[in-house]
Amino acid sequence: MTINDVKLIDLPKIIDVRGNLSFAENYNQIPFEIKRTYWLYDVPGGECRGGHAYRETQEFVIALSGAFDVTIDDGRQKKTFTLNRSYYGLYIPKGLWREMENFSTNSIALEFASTKYDENDYIREYDEFLKLKSNGKI
Ligand code: TYD
Repeated sequence: MTINDVKLIDLPKIIDVRGNLSFAENYNQIPFEIKRTYWLYDVPGGECRGGHAYRETQEFVIALSGAFDVTIDDGRQKKTFTLNRSYYGLYIPKGLWREMENFSTNSIALEFASTKYDENDYIREYDEFLKLKSNGKI
């Protein structure tokens, strides 16, 4: 996988004077079956999250509130996506390094994952990531 496989995906937006509504479904807006969801909140100013890759896990990230940047690195190139609306999300395939930063006050990152939590799926050392990437192992 490379940064070209990362995609911003628009979500349906049901506009209503009572308040807007968006949604996402398995294999529809989200291109995998959701096995887990988690969210990041109360991120102190200046903090970074992420800093790892997954061997198998695919993710879909939405800025449910506020804004933050997601930088994706495929070992050759990097690309930064700013997420700041709740009606689109970022699809991140497996095997890509990600960093999340510049969280605005009270921002919430909602993340859908294609796997249940498994620490063995994480690659937390950047050098190991580069090695696996250059060997074609991820
Ligand atoms: P981690 O994925 O490293 O955080 P981030 O990438 O958002 O900076 O997870 C931080 C800790 O939370 C780690 O010790 C594992 C735990 N955790 C779970 O137990 N279940 C989960 O679904 C996730 C995402 C993390």
